[in-house]
Amino acid sequence: MHNSRAFETIGNALCRNTFLRNLDSAQIEKISSAMYPVEVQAGAIIIRQGDLGSIMYVIQEGKVQVVKDNRFVRTMEEGALFGELAILHHCERTATVRVYSEIFRQIE
Ligand code: CMP
Repeated sequence: MHNSRAFETIGNALCRNTFLRNLDSAQIEKISSAMYPVEVQAGAIIIRQGDLGSIMYVIQEGKVQVVKDNRFVRTMEEGALFGELAILHHCERTATVRVYSEIFRQIE
């Protein structure tokens, strides 16, 4: 069961999404109730481009990076929703989404 902050984050994310904003409040409540918290480590890949997928994510804390065809597309932060396209269009995952991590390389 979520706390009220999680419900608010999920509800707001759904309402902001172009494809999901037309859902009614009962549908939003249903989707929110079906979501559960997961913790992912920095650098971990959550979604891989080309895979089949049926899970959508809302960021409660932290950042992810979207990479398409090995090119960085954008960073998404708390409150953002991702992973909706494969579900809505019954297509393969359109991009890779990984947990943001900063990597520093030593100057030689
Ligand atoms: P999906 O295709 O299911 O899995 C990868 C997700 O990355 C996709 O859903 C979107 O949520 C997100 N995504 C794909 N392309 C972009 C983009 N150009 N900008 C922002 N998010 C994207």
